[in-house]
Amino acid sequence: MKKMISLKNGASISNIVVSTILGHSGGGMFPYILNPAYRQLIEDVKQTKTTVITKSSTYKKRIGNYIAWKPWTWKYIKRLPDNGILNAYGLTNGGIEAHAPQIGRVAHKGIRVIPNFYPEFSKGKDMYLLVMEIVEVMKILWKYLPLSKCIQPLESNFSCPNSPEDRAKNVEQIIHCARGIKNYLPNLPIIAKISCLHPYELAEELEKVGVDAIHAVNSIPYNKVFTCPISPLHYAGGGGVSGEPAFPLAFEYNKELRKKIKIPIIMGCGVISAEHYKKYKDIGADAVSICSLVAINPREASKLIQNNS
Ligand SMILES: Cc1cc2nc3c(=O)[nH]c(=O)nc-3n(C[C@H](O)[C@H](O)[C@H](O)COP(=O)(O)O)c2cc1C
Repeated sequence: MKKMISLKNGASISNIVVSTILGHSGGGMFPYILNPAYRQLIEDVKQTKTTVITKSSTYKKRIGNYIAWKPWTWKYIKRLPDNGILNAYGLTNGGIEAHAPQIGRVAHKGIRVIPNFYPEFSKGKDMYLLVMEIVEVMKILWKYLPLSKCIQPLESNFSCPNSPEDRAKNVEQIIHCARGIKNYLPNLPIIAKISCLHPYELAEELEKVGVDAIHAVNSIPYNKVFTCPISPLHYAGGGGVSGEPAFPLAFEYNKELRKKIKIPIIMGCGVISAEHYKKYKDIGADAVSICSLVAINPREASKLIQNNS
């Protein structure tokens, strides 16, 4: 078995991490679940004790662009040439009260699940209230999750490419928020998911504040990846690119990031093959995350997990 990341308080994360593509519960999502190879991947994830990070929940229900039960909104997730995906999903979700019991059921079935929470900075809430919301979120999650409080990590999504909370503008808010979480929940292992548009100082500050690991990076805004300025989803903010077309930018960002911080880094974005995985490991990834690969080629994703767990 490959080494896991061990966080300070004994929490652990597997060498390969499946990020968000198993849905808000971590147990699978529509329409991918219709594919037998995807269902087999979920079995493999369970057998290999692979860490699964859920799709983001917000405090209350949020309606974004993509809505699973409205087929006319499926256009907000598009395949791109060369193993890419463009999505302007927009964080549609039922809110943490709805998802926590589902996450709990998945965890009790033996999947090592880490919930992902999205703090909504853009709603103009006072930072104290935002941090109190996260305290409340953890109280709700702890009711359902089997792990003890100090070894159940939370991932905080600070980096959706397609939301008003977006990007470099929110650096100050992120640092305040992380400091607040560490103040009120000092034993909670926190993973901060950042964007390659964030300055490296953000990760350095998060390390100082006591964040336990960085997940870099989220999908990348369309106009950063392609010189062609018109995104096929221009009417929905442009969307975020993931999969192979995003790899070069994500890789360069992570290479530099590794030199700046000592805390564990889950490196991801663009991993479509064993070579991408190896490239991230060679520059010092403590773990490597996959998402688009699971949607595009779940069999290949299973192979990668089997060979590196
Ligand atoms: C359809 C789709 C939905 C996503 N939803 C979320 C999300 O809710 N929260 C989040 O932090 N990242 C989300 N992501 C980003 C992925 O977790 C991952 O960071 C990104 O796609 C880059 O990795 P990849 O190239 O392996 O896909 C989503 C990605 C896709 C393709």
